[in-house]
Amino acid sequence: MKVLTILAAFIISVVLLSSASNVTRDVSAQGKKPPEVIVLGKEAKLGQITFNHLKHITENRSPNGAKQIACVDCHHTAQPAAEALKHPPHKTVWPADRTTTLTAELLDKDANAVGAVCTDCHARADAKPKLLPETPQVKFEGSAEPTVMTNQQAFHRNCGSCHDEVVKARPNLDPAPPTSKKCTTCHKKAAA
Ligand code: HEC
Ligand code: HEC
Ligand code: HEC
Ligand code: HEC
Repeated sequence: MKVLTILAAFIISVVLLSSASNVTRDVSAQGKKPPEVIVLGKEAKLGQITFNHLKHITENRSPNGAKQIACVDCHHTAQPAAEALKHPPHKTVWPADRTTTLTAELLDKDANAVGAVCTDCHARADAKPKLLPETPQVKFEGSAEPTVMTNQQAFHRNCGSCHDEVVKARPNLDPAPPTSKKCTTCHKKAAA
């Protein structure tokens, strides 16, 4: 009985050790995989947002559900400037001289393919962004004044606008994605 237990423990540790070394190998490789789940807005008063990054890139999540969302639909600065300019008001890319467009394949070869994350530029209200001298401003059609693109504006426009379009294009989708007005479907207080 004892021998069996020891044998079992030995087998289990061999299995654990070999899977651990696989993990080490992946991490030491040059590229990386896109993150699966990201917790955003840990400092938001209304609560943090659990964002399933993987589902947003592997499922067909375009408004009409016919295709996948391109990486640069969200990571708009991860493409050459000439490409960004095709989608006004976009013009800024990071780094400024980049020649590559973010894809899963590119990330697999170059771990820094994203270049910068949203909040490096879209700072919280009253904060200075890490990468730009000021939080960017955009003048949207129909508004008299330019909008300061804080983290709140950037994420709400990117995430909320698509969800609003999804619900328009596919009113019977169940569950519906959190539309702009459904604040606490996205923002949830972390369990204390
Ligand atoms: C689709 C999901 C979603 C919905 C719906 C949503 N938010 Fe947000 N909100 C976010 C994300 C993502 C951020 C940015 C988090 C970060 O900076 O990482 C954010 C940021 C904010 C911030 C800034 C937080 C800070 O201090 O940094 C406020 C305030 C806010 N939201 C309020 C609201 C209100 C009010 C509503 C409803 C009218 C709402 N949100 C609906 C996802 C959402
Ligand atoms: C629906 C929007 C969206 C799409 C589509 C998307 N991402 Fe992201 N991604 C995000 C957000 C939001 C973050 C978190 C940024 C932050 O923390 O400010 C992120 C973070 C990342 C990070 C981590 C960056 C870091 O240094 O922390 C990587 C890598 C990444 N994405 C790669 C990809 C790749 C590759 C694709 C396309 C296959 C992709 N993303 C498509 C929204 C998106
Ligand atoms: C390197 C800085 C930088 C990064 C990183 C960045 N942005 Fe931006 N963003 C800008 C600037 C600057 C503008 C104004 C237009 C321009 O100059 O390209 C802008 C404009 C926007 C707009 C308004 C234009 C529109 O299409 O409605 C949204 C929304 C937005 N960003 C969301 C995001 C999201 C979401 C992320 C991360 C996935 C992100 N941004 C990453 C700098 C950045
Ligand atoms: C271009 C479209 C698009 C963009 C941009 C987008 N989403 Fe979504 N999202 C969807 C669709 C479509 C669904 C619903 C999928 C379904 O139920 O089949 C969804 C579902 C969700 C859900 C419900 C849980 C889940 O993942 O199934 C959350 C939460 C969410 N999105 C958060 C976000 C946040 C936060 C952002 C911005 C960082 C974002 N989304 C950007 C299309 C989008």
